[in-house]
Order: sequence, then structure tokens, then C-alpha cells
Amino acid sequence: MSESSLNFLRVNDLRKTFLPEGKTVRALDGFSLDAEAGSFTAVVGKSGCGKTTLLKCIAGLERPDSGTVRFYGKAGIVFQDPRLLPWLTVEGNLALALRDRNSPLLEETLALVGLEGWGGAYPRQLSGGMAQRASLARCLCRKPDLLLLDEPLSALDSFTRLRLRKELERICRGRTVILVTHDIEEAVYLGDRVVFMDRGKIQSEFAVTLSRPRDYRDRAFQEICAGIDAEDIGLVRQPIY
Ligand SMILES: Nc1ncnc2c1ncn2[C@@H]1O[C@H](COP(=O)(O)OP(=O)(O)OP(=O)(O)O)[C@@H](O)[C@H]1O
Ligand SMILES: [Mg+2]
Repeated sequence: MSESSLNFLRVNDLRKTFLPEGKTVRALDGFSLDAEAGSFTAVVGKSGCGKTTLLKCIAGLERPDSGTVRFYGKAGIVFQDPRLLPWLTVEGNLALALRDRNSPLLEETLALVGLEGWGGAYPRQLSGGMAQRASLARCLCRKPDLLLLDEPLSALDSFTRLRLRKELERICRGRTVILVTHDIEEAVYLGDRVVFMDRGKIQSEFAVTLSRPRDYRDRAFQEICAGIDAEDIGLVRQPIY
């Protein structure tokens, strides 16, 4: 394995302070992370610990006060809400991201996320789960080298979330992904490793070596989740098995 694939993403000592309403908020306070090409890192942390700020800094949407982000290629980000342009069809939303109306990638990516035949629909005609698939497709059609997922499933009902989680596992296979979530089961289901974030930096992390696809009913899976002291790290557990 080459040096570039071992350290595909290097995030070093990121710091970012906001000053809302005269208060000083250290959103990132010395966050460092390395990720291999093709690895799936799940970042878990309670609300306000800096997860979205981290992804925005990696994507170049937010400028850190100090620290560096280095990776090879381009990043794509998917937010918690789909953020589709309502006056464009699904295909129009993808075409705008791709700057190409006629690319075969449009249909190809819609099929990848299970939306074949829906390219002509407007966002208002989609369910929440379908809109989030369209948002994922808009990101994937640009063929990002690094996929940044900001709680992409958290606004969905639990059945849709479980189904899309399985599909995310398939879609993300082989890609380099950073997923942020509040949900421990989701992190253990999807991640090659789980990183716990607290007050702007990593508190601890562990590798998940279970084979894929994972099974919530699997004893080893349940033991890993049960071994995480959710309250200690300020997370809410959402058991689904
Ligand atoms: N543009 C901004 N202006 C002022 N404060 C901000 C800004 N963006 C983030 N913050 C603050 O930085 C802290 C971290 O925010 P961030 O959105 O990164 O948290 P988060 O971990 O993603 O939370 P959640 O899980 O609720 O989405 C919060 O206290 C937030 O108020
Ligand atoms: Mg957030």
C-alpha cells in the first residue's frame, strides 16, 4: 500500500472558535484524524461537539483558525436535510451539480441509490427517504474521492433509516467516508472504526472488525454496542433490535 493510500486524509490539530452573541465557542479544539483510502470512519458525539464544523472544515466550506486538512482529490458532502432545489427536477438537481445535462452519470447514479425512473420528479413529489437518496445521488454523481456524511439519516423515520443504512453500506463500500452521527448502532453498523468526539476533539476511538454486512441481531454486534457507555459520552441510545 502506498503512502498516499495509508494516509489518504490527514487532519491535523484543527481549531475553530466562534463568537456568537459575545460568547466564545470552541467548536474545534485540536482535532486530528488520519484515514486510509477506502476506509469508513464514523464520528459520534453529542449535539454541539463540533461534528458539522469538522466536516465543513474538511470540505473547505469553513476555514479553521489553525490546523491543516490534506487529502487527495475532491470531497462531497451530504447534509442532514436534502437541500434539493425545489424548482428543479431530481435530474435537474444532479445536472446542476455535474454541470452536464446529458451525462450518463445522471441515470447511473440514480439507479445506484434506488431512484431509477424518478429523475423527472420534483422534490415535493418525493418522500423524505427518497429526497435524501436524491441528495446522496447529487453528491455521488460528481464522483467525490472523499464522502462526508453529516447525519444523513437522522431526519428519517426508523424503518426508512434502517433500510437506507443497509443501502449506505453497499453504496459506500470501497469509498473513503467520514460519517458523523449521534447514533451508536449506526456507527458500529457502518464504520471500520468509531471515533468519539467531545468538545472539539477526539476523546477515544476503536476499530470495528465485524465482517460485513453486519447484523443487528448478531451477539458480537450487540456486545460492542452494549459496551459503549452512551451516557458517559452524552449520547442517546436508540436500540433497534
Ligand atoms: N456559524 C456559526 N456561528 C456561530 N457559532 C457556530 C457556528 N457554527 C457552529 N457554531 C457553534 O459551534 C458549536 C459546534 O457546532 P456544530 O454545528 O459543529 O455541532 P454539531 O456537533 O454538528 O452539533 P449537532 O449534533 O447538533 O448537529 C456549537 O456550539 C455551535 O453553536
Ligand atoms: Mg451537526
